[in-house]
Amino acid sequence: MRKKIMIPDLYNMWHNGEPITMLTAYDYPLALLEEKAGVEIILVGDSMGMTVFGMDSTLPVTLDMMMPHAQAVRRGAPTAFVIGDMPYMTYQINKDEAIRNAGRYMAEANMDAIKLEGGRDIADTIAGIVKATIPVMGHIGLTPQSIAMLGGFKAQGKSLDAVKKLVDDAKALEQAGCFSILVEAVPPQAMEVLEKSVNIPLISLGGGLHGAGQLLIVHDMLGFFDRFTPKFVKKYADLNSEIHRALSAYVKDVKEKTFPTDEYCYPIKAEEADKLKTLL
Ligand code: KIV
Repeated sequence: MRKKIMIPDLYNMWHNGEPITMLTAYDYPLALLEEKAGVEIILVGDSMGMTVFGMDSTLPVTLDMMMPHAQAVRRGAPTAFVIGDMPYMTYQINKDEAIRNAGRYMAEANMDAIKLEGGRDIADTIAGIVKATIPVMGHIGLTPQSIAMLGGFKAQGKSLDAVKKLVDDAKALEQAGCFSILVEAVPPQAMEVLEKSVNIPLISLGGGLHGAGQLLIVHDMLGFFDRFTPKFVKKYADLNSEIHRALSAYVKDVKEKTFPTDEYCYPIKAEEADKLKTLL
């Protein structure tokens, strides 16, 4: 079994130029497969609201919903660095609540860190969580919990002014004690500027090759979530078609009584079968 991945291991990879792999997972079976594939960081993302619960956004997701999923992912991926995503309104109201909620991830789900969205506005809260000895990954760029303010799921950092603001945000998060920052949906040129502006590893989700590693939403890259596909998603499988094919074949077999055949039935001795006929 692989040795448990800790923050110093991630920093060694970053310093040695070895890209860090990161994926989301929401349940035991996928976490197990990601662990087997060698993924270093797993995010139990509140994207679960959309990919697993069919919601229109991540806003209705609660910490109580996240907790059993985080626990299941931990069971499936004992050596990965697993991060619990702080849902909407679990950290925005005040610092004390944010620390208490972040602490639940550590105490109840044995997470290695938490992630939350925002820049300068949330830096003071992050400093409080870090002071409570909870590692924090920041998240800037496209921040799905702010879609009302951002005007939808749109790329960020597409002008000089926008990139300058992102740089200020990244610096504030570094200053607050984030061990890493996730940057979502920015052009590679913006990612390059951000990478040169801070001295902590950046993870890129739709930011091109710059940064210390890459993240994708696992349901997107497996072709499992089909409501929409962001530009930055490479589909490594087409699970939707494959599962649809399997489910339709099952429905057809049952309707046509071609399943279950003898091979799927428990055998019985011929003399016992004869005796059973007397009961018919
Ligand atoms: O919830 C999630 O999966 C996320 C990603 C969009 C980064 O926060």
